[in-house]
Amino acid sequence: MADADTTEAKNYATSVPMQNVPFFLKGSNNLDWGMKNRLSQIFDPTSGRTVMLAFDHGYFLGPTSGLERIDLNIVPLIEYADTLMLTRGILRTTIPPTYTRGIVLRASGGPSILKELSDEEIAVSIDEAVRLNVAAMAVQVFIGGEHETRSVHNMTRLVDMGNRHGIATLAVTAVGKEMVRDAQYMRLATRMCAELGATYVKTYYVDEDFDTVTASCPVPIVIAGGKKLPEPEALQLAYNAVQQGAAGVDMGRNIFQSEAPAAMIQAVRAVVHENLSPTDAYDLYLALKESDKQSVEN
Ligand code: R5P
Repeated sequence: MADADTTEAKNYATSVPMQNVPFFLKGSNNLDWGMKNRLSQIFDPTSGRTVMLAFDHGYFLGPTSGLERIDLNIVPLIEYADTLMLTRGILRTTIPPTYTRGIVLRASGGPSILKELSDEEIAVSIDEAVRLNVAAMAVQVFIGGEHETRSVHNMTRLVDMGNRHGIATLAVTAVGKEMVRDAQYMRLATRMCAELGATYVKTYYVDEDFDTVTASCPVPIVIAGGKKLPEPEALQLAYNAVQQGAAGVDMGRNIFQSEAPAAMIQAVRAVVHENLSPTDAYDLYLALKESDKQSVEN
């Protein structure tokens, strides 16, 4: 039996009300502790934003440019990311288990680039997601696509499974070639995902009225980087998105296909977390690129 504690307890601070601090993420206040804790492994609680490094492309594209050797090309970048978006195959084979930030696990799949992409199914069990200790599961939702209803049901089933275990669901709004990429479409797709239970939503930035997309979506939105752009344009894209209400970026090709990926991800971080202007961020990119080059030469 432990010794009896004879010190009288008296520090009750009866005049100080216990603080009830709202959770920092939009629409997430009523989530359970475990889910909030996992979201804090994805989003930085100080800025309220995230730089997700996306390299799950192989689940339908195979070893695309920049992802031929994830051990050589991507692992050196993970220290700069707030979270990683990847498949379980790459997580198990290539990512050091000492990584402690959030993992966003690709949880849908099926068709390759050679087939109809909206023909996806859930591609992971909840037991596996728990075993891998992931913070969120990501699922493609094809609003307006051939298999729209199935993809929405993939998402709602993952939401149900994830909510049981406090694992977040990221709905990835996939825009088919036949869709018009405008704010009206993005409002429809993101709002549907949020209403049907997604914890947060990934979409594409659109030049006009993107702020109406973020305003009408009651959960956080992150933007996909999309096809490789010249670095100044990619930094401008990230800047525009966060200034118009996005809670960060889920960026892949614009980082790992950059001439200097480590410099690029650090410049993106400065835009996302510190509101650095695109011009200053590009200067930062050039400076980091130069110093990385010199340290390789020395
Ligand atoms: C693509 O299907 C994946 O979900 C990617 O993670 C996503 O598109 C982000 O990568 P990127 O910035 O290359 O578009």
